[in-house]
Amino acid sequence: MPDLRFDDRVVVVTGAGHGLGRAHAELFAARGAKVVVNDLGGDRRGDGESARAADVVVAAIKDAGGEAVASYHSVEDGDAIIQTALDTFGRIDVVINNAGILRDVSFHKMTEEDWERVYRVHVYGSYRVTRAAWPHFRDQGYGRVVMTASAAGIYGNFGQANYAMAKMGVFGLANALAVEGRKRGVHVNTVAPIAASRLTESVLPPKFFDALQPEYVSPLVAFLAHEACDTTGGLFEVGGGFFAQLRFERAQGEVMRLGRAMQVEDVHRAWSTITDFDQREVPTDVMTAMGPIVANIEAGPSRGGNEFVDVDRALGFTYPETTSRYDERDLAIYALGVGAASDPLDAHELRFVYEMHRDGFVAVPTYGVIPAINGVLALAKEGTMAPGLNYGLERLLHGEQRMTLHRPLPSRAELTHRSRIVDIFDKGKGALILTETETFDEDGDLLITNVFTAFIKGAGGWGGDPGPKEKKNVPPSRPPDAVEKQKIEADQALLYRLSGDWNPLHADPAFAAAFGFERPILHGLCTMGYAARHVLRHFAPQDDPRFFQSIDVRFSKSVFPGETLVTEMWKEEDRVVFVARVEERDAVVLQNAAITFHETIPEKAVPTARVTDEGAAAEGQTAPTSGDVFLAIEAYLAEHPDLAANVGKVFQFRLTDPTSLWTLDLQAPGGRVAPGETASAHCTLEISEADFMAMTRGEADAQKLYFGGQLKISGDVMASQKLTFLSQLDPSRVADLRATRAATPAVPRDEVTDEAPVPARPAPTAPRFAAAVTEQLARDTAALRDAVGAVVVAWRITDDPESSFTVDFGEGAVHRDGGGPGAEVTLSLRDEHLEAWATGQADLQRLFQRGHVRIDGDVAIAHRLGRLGGALKLNDGADAPGGAA
Ligand code: NAI
Repeated sequence: MPDLRFDDRVVVVTGAGHGLGRAHAELFAARGAKVVVNDLGGDRRGDGESARAADVVVAAIKDAGGEAVASYHSVEDGDAIIQTALDTFGRIDVVINNAGILRDVSFHKMTEEDWERVYRVHVYGSYRVTRAAWPHFRDQGYGRVVMTASAAGIYGNFGQANYAMAKMGVFGLANALAVEGRKRGVHVNTVAPIAASRLTESVLPPKFFDALQPEYVSPLVAFLAHEACDTTGGLFEVGGGFFAQLRFERAQGEVMRLGRAMQVEDVHRAWSTITDFDQREVPTDVMTAMGPIVANIEAGPSRGGNEFVDVDRALGFTYPETTSRYDERDLAIYALGVGAASDPLDAHELRFVYEMHRDGFVAVPTYGVIPAINGVLALAKEGTMAPGLNYGLERLLHGEQRMTLHRPLPSRAELTHRSRIVDIFDKGKGALILTETETFDEDGDLLITNVFTAFIKGAGGWGGDPGPKEKKNVPPSRPPDAVEKQKIEADQALLYRLSGDWNPLHADPAFAAAFGFERPILHGLCTMGYAARHVLRHFAPQDDPRFFQSIDVRFSKSVFPGETLVTEMWKEEDRVVFVARVEERDAVVLQNAAITFHETIPEKAVPTARVTDEGAAAEGQTAPTSGDVFLAIEAYLAEHPDLAANVGKVFQFRLTDPTSLWTLDLQAPGGRVAPGETASAHCTLEISEADFMAMTRGEADAQKLYFGGQLKISGDVMASQKLTFLSQLDPSRVADLRATRAATPAVPRDEVTDEAPVPARPAPTAPRFAAAVTEQLARDTAALRDAVGAVVVAWRITDDPESSFTVDFGEGAVHRDGGGPGAEVTLSLRDEHLEAWATGQADLQRLFQRGHVRIDGDVAIAHRLGRLGGALKLNDGADAPGGAA
């Protein structure tokens, strides 16, 4: 590291005739600064004056070869001190406000003069000197100020009420000046030193006095005054070899929602939370400090509650994320659990349980409730309960269930679940608590949304929102359009519970009896699975369960295994309304129920392409855009590796005019910037491109934009307070990135998919395989035809994403998704097995024997195809065409 020098810098040190000031002045001078040695030369109480103090120090500096001039003014005459700097050296760069006096006396004996004199030297003096230098700092875009505070002010000290007041006075002044000066290169910091001097000779024990050289303090003061130091607004304790920054921390505190009366008792009750520093934060500016208040205003008025349910605390609570995985085996066990394939020869239902079915294996769509309910049960088992909810399981009834599949369930998946309390209603007799669980696949794409409605007996009546009144999904008066009847086996609950719902109520007779049931009851969601299958059998478009979109049911009565379920269905315009009853008791068990279907079977979206900012791509435009800012953020993250760990949140930026989406993931180690959407944002910020750019240039204030409605923040509003580093991005760096980008030829939009720095899942093999076959056919149809024969072969990829293509070896053509002539042989397999075969790692015959490939049709052709495996050149997917030709 280079020496930190002050050549050509002009430094004013006040009170530099003795003690710390002298040490500072000599250090600055030794490092090349031109120093104004200011000292009034009075005694330690501020009485008297003399030129000697400053002259001695100036002489010492000059003797050592340095440059210095004396100033004998009191700091109360700050203009004159700064004028000395300007007259002698022509400029001013650094002000060290150090002059000080002591008038220690216990408060009750303190005179008006003791108070006033201390104030005038420390606070008024620091103000006067700094004020005189300020216009010069602003004009030259550079300045450094160091204030001198004291532990007496920070922690309090007997007999120093006046001094403590004054010392915190200069700290407050420094904080405000740090904010005002930041944009103009003027940094203002505060030190709380400890050193042996005439001020402390009466306070410090002799042993300490010897160890506390003023020279141990000056290096920190000098560093704060150097251009290499970019800290501003800091407070530092220094002395005796110890150097440390000090900051405020704040207990997480108690938030009381607005609109509810706030009583003294509420404060008493919450005292432990108000004062609990186990959960804490470090506000660094007014905006951060305002965070909880802003969030409270944002949250709107109180929604009331009672001893069981505190709506304010519970509503919106997000549970810790959970994960789960399933495969064909789990789907098949579930299918059996909801009575599928009770006739094993029924081809329709065999698809739910036999993973090698010739028409393809499909999930019973209502399996979509299982991973989510298992997540909720796992949390319940751990005892994780939302804050503000206070009731035992004996009050809880599963009232309703709504589940939406955003696309068909793949045959295996690794899932992440996020649950949040989305509504709480006061039903008088009870409370309704609606918990939404969103389930994402391994790419972060939303796959399933569940809403569980729990009815809490005896927990209503606080006069709150009763929720929607109208009854949904009421059957029309005509007779049902279809009726399905199925006996539920006596051991059905024991089979169903293998899918995860371990509640003993469904298995343990004694436990069920304790809850007033004559024997274990069937799971409500099991009944739902039966009824849903019945609806699918009659109304699934094209007899394909993958059209399933959503289900709504209300659980009205329990079912006992062994009873007969009758499902009555009505096909309405956009849904199938149904009712399920138990035949033996003529009891309605599911009502207000409906299933909807997608118009087409939804497919998994391709990963979001990198959002190129088209505005910037426009010819001739050189102004930086948000894209450049995010590149700069990426660079900033690389230089500040601890930032992400400190913030720990994921942000989604939605910019408008022009639209772009950015993910700033400060939860990932080291942090990550990526274009596009994220499913796991804690906090979403919406702002126009122009306002965003103004904000990052420091021209617009985030707080003002927020209050003015130009910046919308949703989700964890507090998290946004941690983005203050955005205003520290260097605009010239953003401009450089812009320039570099402008010099690089634009990449066509559809080729930039892989540019995102997100480690992508390996590209599916099928399209690459199809492309390789196409290429090979184009090059050498005859050789391939000789090897395989002039035949038509279909490939079906059974996993996610599903796809199929047909190769006509006779014509030398590849057709996609069922196009082209009928196939003589069809191979069904998972993408990974296709990859293994095509790259020569696995042999088709072995895959077949292990059940990984299904062969329908002429097995001999399949055998000949074996020769092709490993002979094709698959590229790595980076430049693969989007699919087979
Ligand atoms: P010091 O008494 O050795 O030096 C203070 C200097 O300020 C003296 O040379 C004095 O003549 C000068 N001064 C007083 N009133 C002035 C005025 N109106 N105009 C110009 N100069 C004036 O004391 P020390 O210990 O070096 O203190 C320096 C600063 O550090 C003071 O602000 C003090 O409050 C602060 N401080 C010192 C601590 C210590 O342990 N020495 C502890 C905490 C704070």
